Amino acid sequence: MYNKDDFSITKIEQSKINEANLENPGFGKFYTDHMLICDYRDGKWQTPEIKPYGPMQLDPASKIFHYGQSIFEGMKAFKDEKGKVWLFRPEQNFQRFNKSCVRMCMPEFPEEYFFGALDILMNLDKDWITSKDGYSLYIRPFAIGIENQVAAAPATEYRVCIICSPVKAYYTEESTGLKVLIQDRFSRSAEGGVGFVKAGGNYGASFYPTELARKEGYQQIIWTDSATHQYMEEAGTMNVIFRIGDTLITAPTNERILDGVTRKSILKLAEDKGFDVDVRPIKVEEVLNAEKQGELKEIFGVGTAATLVPFVGFGYKGEYFELPKVENPYGPQLKKALQDIQYNRAEDKFNWLYEIK
Ligand SMILES: Cc1ncc(COP(=O)(O)O)c(C=O)c1O
Repeated sequence: MYNKDDFSITKIEQSKINEANLENPGFGKFYTDHMLICDYRDGKWQTPEIKPYGPMQLDPASKIFHYGQSIFEGMKAFKDEKGKVWLFRPEQNFQRFNKSCVRMCMPEFPEEYFFGALDILMNLDKDWITSKDGYSLYIRPFAIGIENQVAAAPATEYRVCIICSPVKAYYTEESTGLKVLIQDRFSRSAEGGVGFVKAGGNYGASFYPTELARKEGYQQIIWTDSATHQYMEEAGTMNVIFRIGDTLITAPTNERILDGVTRKSILKLAEDKGFDVDVRPIKVEEVLNAEKQGELKEIFGVGTAATLVPFVGFGYKGEYFELPKVENPYGPQLKKALQDIQYNRAEDKFNWLYEIK
């Protein structure tokens, strides 16, 4: 539990909500009226401040600009038909936020500040959330090293912020499906590295290979393991699930793969529906063979931003493979089951929803 008195709250004088296109918000284009800022100095977290969203001033020597000491989270709030706001498994994001902090040598953020800030922000800015299917509020907590000293060592001062953006589709191709390129040269992460946490640098490093793939007509990359490029790992900023025959197969999470909240939720829902689920390393070769034999039925990406996106085809070493159109595909069924819980339309039998009071 948090204490509202621990927070300094400054409300915006005039809401900017009329400047936002809430019908068609895109993704990350508009930001709500308020944000959290909480600094770490002299070995402790200072008073968390909720204040009007706006630019921040940082010293050019701040470590974040030089050494990329930064981590972030991505989570969503949903509004049900009655106008009530729900967060989806926020404790998972909180735990991962601090796991990322530890790996990047940053101080862990107190749980009561994280949840207190979310409660206050959701209450102040709930008008920004649209209750229709597909709409949600994307919540982006992040932490950066702000000590100003150009020396490659962990900062002594940090800032945690939480900003919120009304969103709809992440990919414009979401309704038609994505084309993905199986990567056999570049890597997103490596054993012993930081792929299992949400360090900002992981994403910056992925832009170049993703741009090359885009030039070839693909919207995303399926990353393979950095040592051999023989095993499927993730798809862009999503975990990836293959349906071969009637079994859903996905790689186990490890030091190179992010332990996605959507992935584990979808796997749970799949089991609940009675689908066969196999969590094990999956070789590129196995997928190619299944494709040849007509056994490869679906591939989809799962993640908070895009929820679940089917892939229509994939490229590998200069060849393109179109996926078949199957009857009653598993992907959309699982997406619906997940969204029914997120929008509070179905029984929350796994206790995933967090109520904003
Ligand atoms: C690399 C990577 N993999 C997978 C995911 C999906 O994780 P989640 O379902 O928790 O959003 C994300 C997004 O956070 C990601 O950045």
